[in-house]
Amino acid sequence: MKNIFRTKPIDDLINETKGENGLKKVLGAFELTMLGIGAIIGTGIFVLTGIAAANYSGPALVISFIISGIACAFAGLCYAEFASMVPVAGSAYTYGYTALGEIWAWIIGWDLILEYLFAIATVAIGWSGYIVKLLSSIGIVIPKSLANAPDAGGIVNLPAVLILALITGILVIGVQQSARLNNIIVGIKVAVVLLFIVLGVGHVNVANWTPFMPYGWSGVLSGASVIFFAYIGFDAVSTAAEEVKNPQKDLPRGIIGSLIVCTILYIVVSAVLTGMVPYLKFKETAAPVAFALEQVGITWGSALVSVGAVCGLTSVLIVMLYGQTRVFFAMSRDGLLPKVFSEVHPTFKTPIKSTVLVGVVSMVIAGFTPIGIVAELTNIGTLTAFIIVSAAVIVLRKKDPNRTRAFKCPLVPLVPALSIAFCALLIFKLPVITQIRFVVWLLIGFVIYYAYSYKHSAINEGKTVA
Ligand code: ALA
Repeated sequence: MKNIFRTKPIDDLINETKGENGLKKVLGAFELTMLGIGAIIGTGIFVLTGIAAANYSGPALVISFIISGIACAFAGLCYAEFASMVPVAGSAYTYGYTALGEIWAWIIGWDLILEYLFAIATVAIGWSGYIVKLLSSIGIVIPKSLANAPDAGGIVNLPAVLILALITGILVIGVQQSARLNNIIVGIKVAVVLLFIVLGVGHVNVANWTPFMPYGWSGVLSGASVIFFAYIGFDAVSTAAEEVKNPQKDLPRGIIGSLIVCTILYIVVSAVLTGMVPYLKFKETAAPVAFALEQVGITWGSALVSVGAVCGLTSVLIVMLYGQTRVFFAMSRDGLLPKVFSEVHPTFKTPIKSTVLVGVVSMVIAGFTPIGIVAELTNIGTLTAFIIVSAAVIVLRKKDPNRTRAFKCPLVPLVPALSIAFCALLIFKLPVITQIRFVVWLLIGFVIYYAYSYKHSAINEGKTVA
């Protein structure tokens, strides 16, 4: 059983990416930052801000964003060190394999599968809400039964399923095309967020900021654990590692750069948002950003923001779906998942089969599952992955101190320790039922690991037990 802690040497990992199974190297720092922003700004800012402000944080939503942002900044520095040192597909999963051993890698990988699948579903459901609203404003009414999951009084959430089908198709065609499309969409998304700030700031009524913390500090922390979702995605940058031209420099730049841009935007947006409308009013809407503009009489701005939100959520979906297939790709190459997940199509150079599988599974989840459950599970899965990556930074500094680190996380072990502490605090503030569901998910993962992955691990069949 000691073998469950076997590790993969970093040089083996890097060599593996060079063979014929390798992916095309087409991405630079700019594309990565765009990929990051594409993944980060989405349902969190466009949908969950209203829920967090009304139910947990009140006008102190800004503080919740700052707390979550700090947690992500610490975790981001740890990610950046690893991404610059182990520039291969699979992100946190791969890092865990080199630093902590196979069982930890499995836990992270299993965790990431949860994170991505459920994040994809959450965002697709949010996308569906916005598109249904937009279509109805031009007279096209989608019946409730076809726009909601069974629990919400419908049969299936068809728009969510259709957008996922479309994006799966785009990703099958190839990374370069997807990145180009992503750049355009990210531009629109950032423009719309800026438009909201410019239009809204003149309508801020400082009286709306009182009481500032209606639910106290506990509420502010719960709010932080909910809107943490808004930051998820910067780690997706590192899942693209194998397709980056100069990973040592570009990956840390992409991660830190996209995180900084988004944090600034979030803080300003949440200050303006809670200043425009009394926080309790957000209980009435699923589209708080558009709603706030409507409330102060700027209807054209509200419509424009809705269009931008639809674009924004689309770009989040692209990066998330992309990230998930790359995690599968890495786990399958290591033998922990069946080989079918790492087959690369000879012409498109993309892992078509795993892309289609991820697409189909996420369609089923998005079509039939309630949004609350999927969003919280995404958060707990991501926070756990952050904790393990942060621990892995400390471990690898000890185990392999001389390896070149193009980017070094500052103040190790303090920064990773703070990352762990902040993420643990946010997990603690999530509902107990979410924590229980997560433990069940992990237990299922252990069963699969011992029944399949442990026996099929490439390390088992080959040479590299460290
Ligand atoms: N951060 C992404 C979003 O808010 C997942 O949609």
